[in-house]
Formats: sequence, structure tokens, C-alpha cells
Amino acid sequence: MGVPSTFLSAFFFLSCFICLYSDLAIAKHAAKGVARHYKFNIRMQNVTRLCHTKSVITVNGKFPGPRIIAREGDRLVIKVTNHVPNNISIHWHGIRQLRSGWADGPAYITQCPIQMGQSYVYNFTIIGQTGTLWYHAHVSWVRATLYGPIVILPRPNTSYPFVKPYKEVPIIFGEWWKADTEAVINQALRTGAGPNNSDAYTINGLPGPLYNCSSPKETFRLNVRPGKTYLLRLINAALNDELFFKITNHTFTVVDADASYVKPFETDTIFITPGQTSNVLIKTKNLTSNAKFLMAARPYSTAATGTFDNTTVVGVLEYNTNIMSFANTSIKSLPLPSLPAINDTSFVANWTNKFHSFGTGNVPQTVQNRFFFTVGLGNDPCPKNQTCQGPNGTKFAASVNNISFTLPTTALLQARYFGKSNNLFSTNFPNYPLKPFNYTGTPPNNTMVSHGTKVVVLPYNTTVELVMQGTTIFGAENHPLHLHGFNFYVVGQGNGNFNSTTDPMTYNLVDPVERNTVGVPSGGWVAVRFRADNPGVWFMHCHIEIHLSWGLRMAWVVMDGRLPNQKLPPPPSDLPKC
Ligand code: C2O
Repeated sequence: MGVPSTFLSAFFFLSCFICLYSDLAIAKHAAKGVARHYKFNIRMQNVTRLCHTKSVITVNGKFPGPRIIAREGDRLVIKVTNHVPNNISIHWHGIRQLRSGWADGPAYITQCPIQMGQSYVYNFTIIGQTGTLWYHAHVSWVRATLYGPIVILPRPNTSYPFVKPYKEVPIIFGEWWKADTEAVINQALRTGAGPNNSDAYTINGLPGPLYNCSSPKETFRLNVRPGKTYLLRLINAALNDELFFKITNHTFTVVDADASYVKPFETDTIFITPGQTSNVLIKTKNLTSNAKFLMAARPYSTAATGTFDNTTVVGVLEYNTNIMSFANTSIKSLPLPSLPAINDTSFVANWTNKFHSFGTGNVPQTVQNRFFFTVGLGNDPCPKNQTCQGPNGTKFAASVNNISFTLPTTALLQARYFGKSNNLFSTNFPNYPLKPFNYTGTPPNNTMVSHGTKVVVLPYNTTVELVMQGTTIFGAENHPLHLHGFNFYVVGQGNGNFNSTTDPMTYNLVDPVERNTVGVPSGGWVAVRFRADNPGVWFMHCHIEIHLSWGLRMAWVVMDGRLPNQKLPPPPSDLPKC
């Protein structure tokens, strides 16, 4: 009997860390970091899940994509060649891209997409970040299958500020559609309705035994030894869903969020939004039997309109097992971990408050640029001679300060760098809503959005405070807002409408968590601060893909500083053309 391929890949996931460590040992004495070269060939690959085979867009034929591994201080040189008909660009989600904005990746923001037959070399250095980040396609919904982990180990001769793990394991949550996801988003944008739901959630690409027609090989299994500490590198790569995650009878110690260390805390349940990553430790029990425990993830949702995929992905934590039995029936008889209710908003609010940085002293204490942005849904009129399936026969839209951002036809960064920004975008993005309303009360009669390609311009190295206010238009929802090119400090959050007199008194300016993605609470607000120390054009958007597609996105332009090392260098010669 052959060894099932999932077994091999699970084994590879674990054992490969040993080879990676020896690989990295070579770099040990290089004080300044080394360059690590990768070749990403974007090509179609047949993948079978739940009795359906479909051809999906992958990196090097792998789904999920191959792992990138580096140490802090290393340079990554990744040659991406597009062999598929779709336009491709890849975003290195969470990488700060200090003065390397040309390598950030969002299509039509920092680069034109890579067309079929073309290549682009992404070249950037990892500075001041350790932990887990990830990469994903950043054009249309291609990231449904094109994503993978970025593992950032500490610098040579530096260790983690916690017990050295015995093994490290990436755990990537995803969503699986039987349908072609490009058809799903195109149909949604045409009809104005919410998109069709995914058919399954996945752990490392595998949906697990709770789905119809799931083969035994489609269950993620983590084989562990007793009494050891494992580091799980969690990534939520799902398109549209925030997730709860739990392992029966085990607790996690959260040590890192979005590749920044946090003050460790214990929890038996994880909450993670699309775009977020987190390193967590689990200590295995002293069991000599070959016990099995289920791990499970399912969504958090308060959406009032439309449906969502409310299924559960399950994987198995297996003790002391070398040869695995692949019967799904025995797995299905194990107890499921008890996850919070689907709409458990108070769990989510408490969760965000558990995160604290080590208080490194970089939190801006004074603010030079203040912004108040509403984030949420809205609608567009139905075009003449068409019927639409969004709210009251209109089309769904989404906005920031009621502006639904239109992607330009050429990249903003290019246009800006070459001084050709006239007519492509304007710099009058409003600092606050032009028509204030009761954001978390009864919505206004007119919920139509306006459209435009508008940016905010920030002088180099100035400090920013941004309050993001969720709205209740077409239902209050948590919106995971992601900022490219920066980490921000999450200094405050609350329920209802932000009060600019009393709420700032509750801010944590001592040890707020540093992240690149934060959930704007459902029917509430969040306040973040950052320093505009990275010249370029930086996308900010909801990481729920359908909200991004509907226009919940905008861009910041950070100006060059005066000194040579405060300026964005010229673009690489192979920067794709539109
Ligand atoms: Cu992970 Cu602009 O995205």
C-alpha cells in the first residue's frame, strides 16, 4: 500500500523544519543577513476536494503555496513568472517594505499586474519583524488558492522570548469553493447580490471529515509527541470569514500577533480575522497512549444581510501515532471542541483587549494628522435595463467615508513617481465623513455611496491617529482593516459611536498591540496610531474579500523625506506595465 500523500505532506511540514534549520545555520555568522532566492511559477494545477476536481491557480503547482522562510534581516528575492491567463500580482502581507514599496504587490496600487508570460522580481528586506506573515495574490479573487506562509525566524544568535519550541507548524485556514471563484465574484458584481458561499473551510488546504464526500486524505493531521511544546503559526487566509479555532482539551499561549511579539497570555479559544497571523504555543499532554483530539474552526458573523458559510473544518491532533488509520468514521466520533456562538461579539471584544505589546516606546504619544473614517456597506443604483439582486433591487457596495474606491487603470505608485497623477487620482480623500449621521443607530434614508480614486497625502515621518467607525448600514459587521507598509498600534476600541471627548481618555498609549490588521468591532469603533515613516503609496482595505471588491478600500500617499535614505528609490526595470 502506498503512503497517502497527505501523510507525506504533513510529515514534510514537520520534518522540514529540521532541514530548514540546518539551511539557516549556514547564515548563522552573517551579521547583516543573507539574500534568499525563490522562484514562483504561477501555474494551473488540478486539485481534488470533496469529490470534485478543479484546476486552480497555484505557486509551483502547490496548494497551499510553498513556505517562504527567512531570518529577520534577510533579503528576499522572489522571481514570479506568470504562466496563467489571469493577471497576477503577489502581496507579501505584513512585510513593512521599508523603502521597497515597488515590491508590495497590490494590483493597480503599487504595480500593474504581471501578465501571462511575464515575470517580476520582488526584492525586499525583512526589518524589525519576527514571527509569521503570509503571501497572497492581490488581484481579483485569485488569492482563493494562491497563498502561503512566510516564516520569519529571529536573527542569528537571537532566540524567542519564550520557551524554544520542539517543532513549528504552520496552520493556514482557507476557504474552498467547488465553483470557479473568478466566476463567483464576477457574478456577484454583475447582479449586485452577495457572493455565493464557499463550500468548506480548510486547514492547510484540507476540509476535514465533516463535509460530504471528504476523503480520509482530506483531513489535516498533526502528529505530536507527549510533553513537548509546539509552536503553531496561525494564518487566516479565508476570503470572507473571521474564524474561531479550538483544540479539545488543550490550551494555547499566544506569543505573537502579525509578526510582533505580545505579552504571552493563555486561552482555550482563538479568534482570527482574514489577514491576521498569530504564533501560539501548545504544550502536549503526558500521554503514552495514541490519543486523538479534534481541532476545529468555524466562523464568527453578525451579518444581517445575506448568508455565509457556517460549516466547520476539523483536523486531528494525534499522539504517539506513526502509522495512521485513515477512517473518517472514527474521527467523527471524537468530541468536537465547543466553539463560541457564531455571533459571540463579546468574546471578540474581550479577545482584542487581551493583546499587549512589550511596550517598546514607539507608540506615537502626540498626533499630527487626525482622521475619522466610517467603514461599512452601502449600495449603488441598479443600471437601467438590468435587474439587480442587492438590497431592494439595488447593488451592494462598500465604502470608507462613503467613498467606494475605484481602482485606477495604471498603478498609483508609478503615476505618482513619474508625476502623471493628474486625472488618475485626486488627493482630497475626506479626513472625516462629509455627512455625519448616527453611525450605529438607524441608518440614513439615502445609503448610496459615491465613487472615486481619492488618497490622503501624509508628510514624511508625521504621526497619524485614525479612528475607524463601523456603520450599521445593511447590518453591523466586524471589518478587519488591513494597512499595507506599516504596523499600527491599536490604542482603543469601543461599542457604539466614537466619542471624541471621552473615548481618547481610555486609550492605551503604554503597551498597545502592534498589528497590520485589526477588526473594527461590529457596531463599534477602533483607534490606531502609526508614524508615516515609509514613503510610497499604501493600500488600506477591509480584508473580507467581498467588501474589498465592493470598494471598502483607500490609499495613503506618504511623501519622501529630505534625506536620501528617506526617499523611495526608483522602480526596478522589470516593473510590469499595464
Ligand atoms: Cu493581505 Cu491588501 O492584503
